[in-house]
Amino acid sequence: MMDLLPTITVRRMGFEYPPDLDPVFIQGEPEESYLFAALSLLLPYLEPYLIRTMKDARNRITDPALLRDLDKFIAQEGQHYTQHARFNALFRDRVDGIADLERTMNAEYRRFSSSRSLRFNLAYSEAFEALATAVACAYADQDHSKWHPAAEDLFGWHLVEELEHRAVVFDVYQQLCGDYLYRVKVAQFAHRHLLGFARRAMMHLLDADPRCETTFGGAAGRRRRMRRLVGVMLREVLPRALKSYSPRYSPRDLPITPSVAALKSRADELAVKSS
Ligand SMILES: [Fe+2]
Ligand SMILES: [Fe+2]
Repeated sequence: MMDLLPTITVRRMGFEYPPDLDPVFIQGEPEESYLFAALSLLLPYLEPYLIRTMKDARNRITDPALLRDLDKFIAQEGQHYTQHARFNALFRDRVDGIADLERTMNAEYRRFSSSRSLRFNLAYSEAFEALATAVACAYADQDHSKWHPAAEDLFGWHLVEELEHRAVVFDVYQQLCGDYLYRVKVAQFAHRHLLGFARRAMMHLLDADPRCETTFGGAAGRRRRMRRLVGVMLREVLPRALKSYSPRYSPRDLPITPSVAALKSRADELAVKSS
């Protein structure tokens, strides 16, 4: 099958958000909106950690092709967290307690960088990349007609680039460590840890939005929407993420869904052209 994403492209984006953008940016879907917002809140702390980890690994890599990809990985992740930090600022100031959550996330990833081994940090980073790949494939196949276009463009661009660089951390881990059992042991921890942060931030945002009790139908509305959201995650995200636990796993072998092509064209179209 033709590779839909054969190269890693570092795009500069000029996203603008309306200052009154509703944090429920998926119409009528507070849980899904706040789940994506929770992931977005994590990125300005998680992605700099990925960059620190890859910079630590860099001087041990000798393969010139992998070095080139590693540098593009760092450049892409640098763009991602910068753009998400701008997006997060839109609703951070409206919700009490978000700054405390962010401080906890920041301290945790700084602690990993200063006190955990490179092997651990690479395995954790790879677990995140495998999860991002699974989310990106699932996202590409979903209907986005209820999304606010500004949020859709941000997440669409980011997830396309996650797919473009999906093999880089894996390749670095394989070259420097290569221990399968250690990789899956850390992945179990990392996936629980990442989902724990996401769940905590999502519940915080939901509890802070009074419309959940009124406009969005209270507990019954939440149960109904959560059933659908959990169903999508169990059907679309989990089976893809679980592939990374196989000893034969390679991010290159994952079937990239054809709908990614549309997301890629949109990201290319929105990228700021350098003169
Ligand atoms: Fe990213
Ligand atoms: Fe990534």
